Amino acid sequence: METRKPDQTAPDGPARLELEFAVEGRDFAAAGNAASRIKRALEHVGFAARAVRRASITAYEAEMNIVIHARRGVIRACITPEAVTITADDEGPGIPDIELAMQEGYSTAPEDIREMGFGAGMGLPNMRKCSDRFSIESRVGQGTAVRAVIRNERRGTEGRGLDR
Ligand SMILES: Nc1ncnc2c1ncn2[C@@H]1O[C@H](COP(=O)(O)OP(=O)(O)OP(=O)(O)O)[C@@H](O)[C@H]1O
Ligand SMILES: [Mg+2]
Repeated sequence: METRKPDQTAPDGPARLELEFAVEGRDFAAAGNAASRIKRALEHVGFAARAVRRASITAYEAEMNIVIHARRGVIRACITPEAVTITADDEGPGIPDIELAMQEGYSTAPEDIREMGFGAGMGLPNMRKCSDRFSIESRVGQGTAVRAVIRNERRGTEGRGLDR
């Protein structure tokens, strides 16, 4: 699912593009599609390469976490000339201890998922590193909401080896 909504709130303000994708738990055939579409949209609107990379990683890890850990969810990207805000809202088991989940290497991914190459416990830490703002809210037994803001960067900040 993808929808593009015209910006209703600021008709005279800067252009804003909103993308929305439904993500199904365990749907590995479609996994990564939302992140790819967000990446292409950012390239299309001329985001700086480094911001595209950081946003793509963030969107991909958020999407995979829904596929692997939740029942279903929605990934949204709100793109303005200044920044992209990526949100992932899911229905699923929730995260009982967010501080623990944020630690590098912590994963509850089962063996069959690890055999597919996931479950290193690096998704959430990488999302935080790639974002300028990052937050998680979760309710056990209900679901999880992740929000990440990645600022677009002016030309001239490229190629400084600051990739995270
Ligand atoms: N959307 C979610 N719903 C429920 N639990 C989640 C969700 N996202 C993350 N978690 C929990 O937090 C843990 C850490 O997530 P993280 O993305 O860092 O690692 P991972 O998904 O296990 O492995 P990797 O991302 O490296 O493939 C997960 O193993 C899981 O227990
Ligand atoms: Mg993950």
